[in-house]
Amino acid sequence: MVVLGIETSCDESAVALYDSERGLLGHRLYSQIALHAQYGGVVPELASRDHVRKTLPLIKDLLNECGLDLEQLGGLAYTAGPGLVGALLVGASIGRALAWALGLPAVPVHHMEGHLLAPMLEPDKPAFPFIALLVSGGHSQLVQVEGVGQYTLLGDTLDDAVGEAFDKTAKLLGLPYPGGPALAELALQGKPGRYRFPRPMTDRPGLDFSFSGIKTFAITTWRDSPQDEQAKADIAHAFQLAVVETLVIKCKRALKQTGLNTMVIAGGVGANQLLRESLDVLMQSLGGRVYYPRPEFCTDNGAMIAHVGCLRLMGGEQDEPIIRARPRWPLVELSPPGVS
Ligand code: KG4
Ligand code: ZN
Repeated sequence: MVVLGIETSCDESAVALYDSERGLLGHRLYSQIALHAQYGGVVPELASRDHVRKTLPLIKDLLNECGLDLEQLGGLAYTAGPGLVGALLVGASIGRALAWALGLPAVPVHHMEGHLLAPMLEPDKPAFPFIALLVSGGHSQLVQVEGVGQYTLLGDTLDDAVGEAFDKTAKLLGLPYPGGPALAELALQGKPGRYRFPRPMTDRPGLDFSFSGIKTFAITTWRDSPQDEQAKADIAHAFQLAVVETLVIKCKRALKQTGLNTMVIAGGVGANQLLRESLDVLMQSLGGRVYYPRPEFCTDNGAMIAHVGCLRLMGGEQDEPIIRARPRWPLVELSPPGVS
């Protein structure tokens, strides 16, 4: 079965075709970064309007590129949440309308389930069960994954998400939006040891995170610094190191608590090189393994949505002909395909 996946939950219009037999056939993405850059963050109304402009042409281009036409599709999948409601509604309406017109099934996909299972798009895929570290612009979660739709939340952020802390700290340092990759790049120029940031909530038991204090620490450190280029790089370095070490400490605890030794990193911050290297080192020391998607499938993309849609449709999932958009949608509310 070939499934067309549509992702429009935030500032990327993305589509992909996933075949249950052959895997990923192709994917296309249009990033709105340039559109929002001048505002220093995503402007929801502009995001929705741009999805309206870009999504259908992306689908047409993708079908052409893969030498397929709409009649060869077996189903549709669209991101139904969490995300910006106006943006979600665009992909949901297109997905549902196409399904209706073609007489095909369509499934609403949870964006974070897309991220969580994205490492399975790679040839060397993890086997269930595993611990997933979900780190994006809106989420910082540790999840125990027993199978598709079988998720137990082990830890969550009490305030800011990791990506949000990266973005806000980057903005403070005058870096362009989106801040995460820019801050990581600048950190490479930083002198280790000049500043030391706190590792929040690592001195007490538990798997929850808190990243708003570290952001405030960045503000005061910057204010009291010479505010030159070297100070910027040194702060970026110390910030990134503290965030990564905090995540690694919590991952180690989650593995110990559950007795598992496989990890998956997913979500935009999963593209962070230091995080990937540090988790590699941890897992080697524990005799386990960490899996991550290629960097382009860490950040938002259509492939992860087509993939989950295909798993769910093949598993017998069905949905009524309703356009679903849920800006807030806890991951743990999901169930395995075909079980409602
Ligand atoms: O998963 P994603 O593309 O969108 C959401 O679902 O939120 O994640 C975007 C987040 C942004 O906060 C961005 O700054 C961060 O991921 N990010 C990074 C890196 N690449 C993207 N953060 C740190 N280092 C990176 N290399
Ligand atoms: Zn995402």
